[in-house]
Amino acid sequence: MSSRTPVIAGNWKMYKDHLEAIQLVQKLAYHLEAEDYEDQEVVVCPPFVSLRSVQTVIQSDDLPIGLGAQNCHPEDEGAFTGEVSVPMLSRLDVTYVIAGHSERRALFGESDAVVNEKVRAIQHHGLRPILCVGESLEEREAGRAVEVVVQQLRGSLDGIAIDDPEALVVAYEPVWAIGTGRTATPQDAQEMCAAVRAEVASLYDQATADGVRVQYGGSVKPGNVKSLMSQPDIDGALVGGASLSSEDFALIVRHRR
Ligand code: PGA
Repeated sequence: MSSRTPVIAGNWKMYKDHLEAIQLVQKLAYHLEAEDYEDQEVVVCPPFVSLRSVQTVIQSDDLPIGLGAQNCHPEDEGAFTGEVSVPMLSRLDVTYVIAGHSERRALFGESDAVVNEKVRAIQHHGLRPILCVGESLEEREAGRAVEVVVQQLRGSLDGIAIDDPEALVVAYEPVWAIGTGRTATPQDAQEMCAAVRAEVASLYDQATADGVRVQYGGSVKPGNVKSLMSQPDIDGALVGGASLSSEDFALIVRHRR
């Protein structure tokens, strides 16, 4: 048994206005009981404009739900129209920040170098990155999946020290499984999460690798979460579509029952 505390995070992407966001987190809390939060972290990542509203609900109802952001700018402040900095997120009690999600890599041109700067900034301010890596379908079919993921990991972590392994979450999200309903088999997901951990061991050391949490993401649903989470190197899930339904996300969080 690993001593790592799993993290189940909901990535709401560009869904829900701030009123719907308030409802979603309230309903989620309604479906969950104290035991569901034991020995695992539950995190929601709403759009920027809803962070304040969701934070207020979490605070006033004293909910054991963590707050995450979906992106950040690496600088603390500056003339970067439309961007949001890590210190701003920190002031809203955000503890996790997703960095390098495949949608950002593909649609907004984020390279490993940019992701590296973001991870650095997130760590610098004492927040926790959820660093996303994952191969495309073509890359998997060409037998290059591990190579691609290892490359992303190296580039995104280049020159970054890891003092507290618990403070780094890596999300393995095969691009072909995101929003497609097509999930990696638990065996394939386990194999890649183990490869991620092995790479962390080679970049740092075994103790660091043993402490880092590695999530699986890509069409995680109530029906497949159990088999994924039972894999030894999978320490949680990054959930997109299914996190938009309080019932489904609650069922995912309650996968141990
Ligand atoms: P999905 O998204 O669960 O809708 O496949 C996962 C993600 O993009 O983080």
